[in-house]
Amino acid sequence: MAFARRFGALEFELAPISNVRPDGTLRPDDGSDDAVKVLKGNMGWHCDSTYMPVQAKGAVFTAHVVPATGGETGWADMRAAYDALAPDMRDRVEGLSAYHSLAYSQGKLGHAHAPGSAYSGYGMQVADPPLRPLVKTHPETGRKCLMVGRHAYRIPGMASDASEALLEDLVTQACQPPRTWQHRWTPGDAVIWDNRCLMHRALPWDMSEPRVMWHSRIAGDAKSEGVAG
Ligand SMILES: [Fe+2]
Repeated sequence: MAFARRFGALEFELAPISNVRPDGTLRPDDGSDDAVKVLKGNMGWHCDSTYMPVQAKGAVFTAHVVPATGGETGWADMRAAYDALAPDMRDRVEGLSAYHSLAYSQGKLGHAHAPGSAYSGYGMQVADPPLRPLVKTHPETGRKCLMVGRHAYRIPGMASDASEALLEDLVTQACQPPRTWQHRWTPGDAVIWDNRCLMHRALPWDMSEPRVMWHSRIAGDAKSEGVAG
């Protein structure tokens, strides 16, 4: 948390990203546990908190218990992804926006927030999902980045099938080598990333094995990471 604060105020201090309950038992991987549904959701490429009024600036992520295989984290560079777009696609996405919603992305996994859930509900009950441009300008470097990912849906002005297909296609094209990096965790590792120009995802692992990670989220600047940013 102290390290994360060097980069700005925190959106939240520390959250477990874990399939282990506080009492040490494993969460069941049988569709009954909302915290597991969030872990599975995080296996889709995304930026953090794009579904909040202000998207996150970054995060510090630390590994405490890691599975024998799998459970890596991947990142993808959305500056390079924007640069790699064909000129006609660059022109096309420049004028488009999409709504971002955690209730939408988790809804695809059958996760609807209800009282008593194993997930806190953070981000699940945003009354007005933010509308964000598909092309974001990084506030420090001025570089253009593609802003898509699993929370993005419904591009105004497009039919919903076409909108879904375009958003999915952009993510698939964007998150390819040489723009991706995969980190194999060792307990004690800490990774910090810039959430304004990178997407990330978890790789699957055998959920009969524990994976315990902690996440500190650095708040974005409302001027650049707010809905008008
Ligand atoms: Fe994330």
